[in-house]
Amino acid sequence: MKKIVVLTGAGMSAESGLKTFRDHDGLWHDYRVEDVATPEAWRRNMDLVLEFYNERRKNLLDARPNAAHFALARLEGKYDVNIVTQNVDDLHERGGSIKVLHLHGELKKVRSSVDPSLVYELPGWELKKGDLCEKGSQLRPHIVWFGEPVPLIAEAADLCERADIMILIGTSLQVYPAAGLIHYVFAGAPKYYIDPKAVEVPYIPKLEIIRKTAGEGVPDLVDRLMSEV
Ligand code: APR
Repeated sequence: MKKIVVLTGAGMSAESGLKTFRDHDGLWHDYRVEDVATPEAWRRNMDLVLEFYNERRKNLLDARPNAAHFALARLEGKYDVNIVTQNVDDLHERGGSIKVLHLHGELKKVRSSVDPSLVYELPGWELKKGDLCEKGSQLRPHIVWFGEPVPLIAEAADLCERADIMILIGTSLQVYPAAGLIHYVFAGAPKYYIDPKAVEVPYIPKLEIIRKTAGEGVPDLVDRLMSEV
């Protein structure tokens, strides 16, 4: 089976009703990154950080996978598909994708603030001050904050190096190391970038830009790829 690696960003979940970060109505227009998505923010104002992620978890309860999520799951019928997502929602899993690697963490999980190996599923949407891990430390969102290492980047790069095809969906390609993954894919491999405001990506061979929404562009591309095998 040919291997497909799919790198997704917030635009993948936009049609499921979840805000992106850098669109005009994005999360970074409502909050400052340095106030809610850095270790310093956590030390300085834990309440605001907890509120930011509780709000996003609450929104996720009402969100459903969209046509793009379901189409990617369909692709698994004829390809070996690995999803590498920058998204912290669980819509890929709920849409039926099996192999999903969350580069930036998972909204529905929390972890010990003293031992990162202690990760827990959070029942419900609310993480509160005083919710402690088994070692007695405050639980924190299981999210990779700006300035923190991206533990799964090497695994993601390996998936890209071994891919026969790459699909990029709904990402502004502004955040590294995720945005650099495209450079790990074999030059001769077909690459597709689905995003209504897809940015130009210079010097990437065999890149087809599809300026459509995920809900429109992904099912069409999946139909094309399914008909090729
Ligand atoms: N379908 C496809 N793409 C869309 C849609 C849609 N319906 N709506 C918006 N987009 C595109 C936008 O054009 C934009 O290119 O989604 C992209 C969203 O870009 P960002 O908001 O920057 O999100 P992302 O690229 O995922 O950000 C990467 O930055 O803040 C950090 O950790 C955070 O994982 C995030 C990372």
